[in-house]
Amino acid sequence: MIHGKKTNASFLWTVAAFLMFAFTALFTACSGTDKGTRIINKKCTKCHSTKRIYAYKRSKAEWQDIIERMKRHGAEIDHEEIGFLVEYLSAKKK
Ligand code: HEC
Repeated sequence: MIHGKKTNASFLWTVAAFLMFAFTALFTACSGTDKGTRIINKKCTKCHSTKRIYAYKRSKAEWQDIIERMKRHGAEIDHEEIGFLVEYLSAKKK
């Protein structure tokens, strides 16, 4: 009797954990909050909209120049994030 209840409870926990995992994955996929979008929404939309960012397709070297210029304008972006965005934005299809 007690044993049976215990099994039942751990089964429910397994289901709950799985559902939480599934919903998190689904939510991340649907809302499109990948790392690049997250950084851009957080660090690049203070002074202008993302329209300005997605307006043209640019090479890695161009993005490197632009983002370093944004840093001089006052964007609070660190070295790791610059590297990531250069890759992310130059790989983006327009
Ligand atoms: C502190 C304010 C500020 C922040 C934060 C900022 N920008 Fe800008 N951005 C500007 C200003 C001012 C201009 C127009 C002058 C210029 O092009 O340098 C601009 C222009 C641009 C342009 C057009 C440049 C061109 O040559 O056509 C792009 C692309 C851009 N920003 C991308 C970004 C990205 C990506 C980020 C995040 C890393 C960012 N910006 C964050 C101020 C900012």
